[in-house]
Amino acid sequence: MEIIEKIFLENKAWANGKVQFDKLYFEKLSLMQEPDFLWIGCSDSRVPANVITNTEPGEMFVHRNIANVVDINDINLMSVVQYAVEYLKVKHIIVCGHYGCGGIKAALTNNSFGNMDVWLNKIKEIAKQHDIELALCKSEEEKAKKMVEFNVIAGVEKLKTVEIIKNSTIRLHGWVYDLHDGILNKLV
Ligand code: CO
Repeated sequence: MEIIEKIFLENKAWANGKVQFDKLYFEKLSLMQEPDFLWIGCSDSRVPANVITNTEPGEMFVHRNIANVVDINDINLMSVVQYAVEYLKVKHIIVCGHYGCGGIKAALTNNSFGNMDVWLNKIKEIAKQHDIELALCKSEEEKAKKMVEFNVIAGVEKLKTVEIIKNSTIRLHGWVYDLHDGILNKLV
């Protein structure tokens, strides 16, 4: 069997399981979505928002990009934020980074990654603002860890400047996920 076919088999098994548990599961879910959370995370396959938070379809509105970058000039992200705030009326926005983030590590090098450089430059800008603290790190690993944290905090700070968030009671959170133990840690 081709590996892609397995996805359809697994999907059928999953859907059947849901219906067995609750006959109207999909009918109810199709009527509306009322998620309390907007998750802004990394695209990394090891950090799937719903899986690591044990949340179900309908519970979390999700935006993921390389290294969970928050750029208020990013029309993709900002459309997600606007929709989540104005229409879905989420109560919390979570920016979640993760240690061992390849995007962060790449941005800390001087290597070129082709078209991705435009994206990585957004992270390099944040790194520049913390150059003294980063220079004090004793290893590349420590530097990367610090940068993951700075990037999350910068993301939350940028969201604070967004008008529709300022005018709301939405709570902002900055978290880091640790690939080594599967645990989320609060930063801000
Ligand atoms: Co990552």
